[in-house]
Amino acid sequence: MRRDAATEVEVFPDLQGLALAAARRLVALAAERAEEAGRVSIALSGGRTPLPLYELLAGALRGRVPWDVTELYFGDERCVPPTHLDSNYAAARRALLSRVPAAKVFRIEGERPPEAAARDYDATLHAAFPDPLAPTFDLALLGVGADGHTASLFPGSPALDEGARWAVAVPSPAAAEPRVPRVTLTPPVLGRSREAWFLCAGADKREVVARILAGRAPELPAARVRGTLRTVWLLDRAARGDS
Ligand code: 6PG
Repeated sequence: MRRDAATEVEVFPDLQGLALAAARRLVALAAERAEEAGRVSIALSGGRTPLPLYELLAGALRGRVPWDVTELYFGDERCVPPTHLDSNYAAARRALLSRVPAAKVFRIEGERPPEAAARDYDATLHAAFPDPLAPTFDLALLGVGADGHTASLFPGSPALDEGARWAVAVPSPAAAEPRVPRVTLTPPVLGRSREAWFLCAGADKREVVARILAGRAPELPAARVRGTLRTVWLLDRAARGDS
């Protein structure tokens, strides 16, 4: 990935330090966008890494976010019911959504047939961001799998080349858990976010993070999603290879 001035990398001793820095950045971004645009739109990441961030936003920093104008979306969802252990919505609900008065939460309906859920979420996103020339999300929070996937955009997936739809159904991944079909946002909508932040922690991410940040893996999904204003990689030492 080309490391231009709009790409930042920050390394923290551990996941808690990463989460606190991300939470502070998000508080600042949300205040700015609430002031400038009167709304804040954030796409939440699935997986485990962002959960300490969500806990901070619902706890210690709850009063610092303008929840009354904040809209929360999802970057992807596993095709399971919203109460299922593997549901990204269920995890976000426990850590954040049930504890803050977000103005709107736009859930991907994992319990429905994937194509129908994707079609309806695509319509939801286009209604939320109707201006074809304006950015979409103020912030896309993203994780990275050891195979280089992000959201549920997996290496080699046709969804990577989707040019029109903003949400598509994808089959169960061959090399990522859980092995269930997903609905994922696509590069056209993620790539029009003002800011894209990749939160990565753990030694299992070290190799893929090093390849992407060195520009040696441009084909990987996580190397292909950039924010229009800023792309930020927030890493713990284990993911950055600092012993
Ligand atoms: C998902 C996520 C996925 C996740 C990565 C990293 O639905 O699983 O959207 O892209 O961010 O797999 O997951 P961890 O944070 O659990 O390592």
